[in-house]
Amino acid sequence: MKTIIIGAKGMLGKELAKIFQDWNPICWDQAEIDIADREDVNEKISETKPDLVVNAAAYTNVDGAETNRDLAMKVNGYGVGNLAEACKKCNAILIHYSTDYVFNGKKQEGYKEDDQPKNPINVYGKSKLLGEKLLQKNTGKFYLIRLSWLFGKFGKNFVETMLTLAQKNEIIKVVNDQRGKPTFAFDLAKKTRNLVEEKFPFGIYHITNEGDCSWYEFACEIFKITGNKVEIIPVESKEFPTAAKRPAWSILVNTKLPPNRSWQEALEEYLKN
Ligand SMILES: NC(=O)c1ccc[n+]([C@@H]2O[C@H](COP(=O)([O-])OP(=O)(O)OC[C@H]3O[C@@H](n4cnc5c(N)ncnc54)[C@H](OP(=O)(O)O)[C@@H]3O)[C@@H](O)[C@H]2O)c1
Repeated sequence: MKTIIIGAKGMLGKELAKIFQDWNPICWDQAEIDIADREDVNEKISETKPDLVVNAAAYTNVDGAETNRDLAMKVNGYGVGNLAEACKKCNAILIHYSTDYVFNGKKQEGYKEDDQPKNPINVYGKSKLLGEKLLQKNTGKFYLIRLSWLFGKFGKNFVETMLTLAQKNEIIKVVNDQRGKPTFAFDLAKKTRNLVEEKFPFGIYHITNEGDCSWYEFACEIFKITGNKVEIIPVESKEFPTAAKRPAWSILVNTKLPPNRSWQEALEEYLKN
């Protein structure tokens, strides 16, 4: 299967490049293609004639999106529309990643794949929702995968932030009023490959690790595994004001796929390697 991975230098993209390695994927990032540029996308996809495009490229700075709205919309919204249009022309499958932030975070029991996202509470969520809509409008051959709280060895993430903070501080305050489901990039990349190989029906999927937690609980587990003696204090989000609001209940419920291992097991593997 001729495969292109876009955003191949990002945290998830690098993991995908490894998982799909034996398919000899073509790996592109900003230097090779600008997904926000419709002509560039059309030209490069039509010249390459892929069977599968995996798009892990995105504008992922959640706080930055509040002031860079146009760029976020161009990349996360219209950029996805461009890819979907180009894939449809050459009959390629498009795998695209979205986020829990397309929901407004008020539903405590969590969001299923067929829940309709509305009123995202920050610009990043709005831009990703635009991408979801344009994807579904422009092609039928898509896997739309929502994930949350990504961690993995190829990018800046919460686990690394906590470990860095613990080197310099004896006490760390961590937010305890936002809940979500951590997602290990390696597990997500593997499940992505399964979707294609096992020819699951096209559509929307929620892929995270199993179980939910607050950021505070996530931090406690990190230091339990590493044996670090740092004191962790649970606090409310208002103690750490950010440019973008975060949803309080950001739980993606998977009703379609065999569940992944728990986030604690995945975290343990990540930390031990
Ligand atoms: N990280 C999370 O916690 C999280 C949570 C939920 C959903 N997601 C979604 O998961 C996917 C992967 O996220 P990630 O954290 O792996 O992202 P990432 O590490 O930020 O990587 C994104 C990659 O896309 C590239 N890129 C940005 N704009 C581009 C453009 N216009 N054309 C081509 N490439 C471009 C970036 O290049 P530069 O570095 O040069 O900008 C970067 O290499 C994204 O769709 C994201 O929205 C992530």
